[in-house]
Amino acid sequence: MDLTAQIYQYVVAHYLPPRLQKRPLQALAKGAALVSAAFTSERRTLPIHYFNRPDYRSGYLLYFVAVNLPKILHCLSMSHIAARLLRQPSLRVLDLGCGPGTGALAMAAWWQGHHQQGTLTILGVDQNRKILEDARNLMARCFPQVSHTTVPRTITANTLPSLRGGPFDVILCANLLNEIPSERERLGLVSTLVQQHLTDHGISLILEPALRQPTRALMVLHDQLLAPHTTPHTDPRSPRSPRSLARIPHILAPCLHQAACPMLRPSRRDWCHAYLDWERPPLIAKLDHLIGNRKEYLKFSYLILSNRGSETSRLNQHLPQYRVVSAPLRSKGKTELLLCPATAAPEALTRLTRLDRDRSSANAEFDRVLRGDIVETMATTRLTADTDFRIIQSFRVL
Ligand SMILES: C[S@@+](CC[C@H](N)C(=O)[O-])C[C@H]1O[C@@H](n2cnc3c(N)ncnc32)[C@H](O)[C@@H]1O
Repeated sequence: MDLTAQIYQYVVAHYLPPRLQKRPLQALAKGAALVSAAFTSERRTLPIHYFNRPDYRSGYLLYFVAVNLPKILHCLSMSHIAARLLRQPSLRVLDLGCGPGTGALAMAAWWQGHHQQGTLTILGVDQNRKILEDARNLMARCFPQVSHTTVPRTITANTLPSLRGGPFDVILCANLLNEIPSERERLGLVSTLVQQHLTDHGISLILEPALRQPTRALMVLHDQLLAPHTTPHTDPRSPRSPRSLARIPHILAPCLHQAACPMLRPSRRDWCHAYLDWERPPLIAKLDHLIGNRKEYLKFSYLILSNRGSETSRLNQHLPQYRVVSAPLRSKGKTELLLCPATAAPEALTRLTRLDRDRSSANAEFDRVLRGDIVETMATTRLTADTDFRIIQSFRVL
């Protein structure tokens, strides 16, 4: 049975009173609608312990776990990330702000999918005890062979040092940072995690909703992590030691460079986010229909970090390479793409235009390009008929 079906069975058994079990989806959809509205328009008014409400928990379990899980799986499956992790015979994972164990479920499914024989040990941490109970129940039900424990704790940069069980090979922070209102606290937390709790070969995946505000906050955090002493966003009182300044994290994805984000400063409108095609599970399609959502594709923003300053670029670079950071922008007679360069210090995004009359076999892959792909080309502003354009890594298929 697939994970979505197992979670559905768990939710029906644990959350639905017998009198409502004749039409379970209709009864449970209300919770999914409530939590969906709360996470978008009403987020600022959400109480800290929103998961004390059973309808929020059941709604999240039913809808958001299924939606967030493939995003995490996709990031773990990026070739350079997977290769890095699969070199380890066993993995220790920290899932911070784990909620109902979305990260643990994704990690266990990924591990199982790679037929790994070694041990997978996962520690889930969350401030809410009730949702931790769901996390434990679900992991025991779906992946009984995985060692999974939980700790109820409110995480801050100051409480992290007392966290036992590390250092960790994987640190997941999925949809957590936007619940930490202070920019300074987010920076302190992520710096401490990467510098003090991550193994040298490990990765930390930060995933956020693709909304403008949390994504721009992630872009600011990106710049602060890379240039803590120069970035104008850094709060001078931020909790950094001279040692921590010496260990600047390395960005493994999505950026192909280690410099300030060229999308952040030129405009307040843009935010760097990803789109992922998925096969929407029938249960989610039915819920979408009932609650008026459309999750035909998945949207998220993310950052994958390591703690080693000596990392080299993962791609064998022959031609200039770029990450595609917009959807293809089509207008009369032309298509444009925004590209984030792999150069050492990109000052701006590249806007690449191909006129329809310049379509050719050399640049045919331009017609298939999607947001998130890695591409290479010699063209800088205009893609002419005789300029090659290649997709090096498609974001859709990994
Ligand atoms: C939106 S849920 C994300 C759950 C899961 N990681 C996912 O992506 O599906 C955010 C979780 O972070 C927890 N959380 C928020 N701030 C926290 C903090 N400072 N310490 C511990 N947990 C926190 C909340 O209780 C909630 O369970």
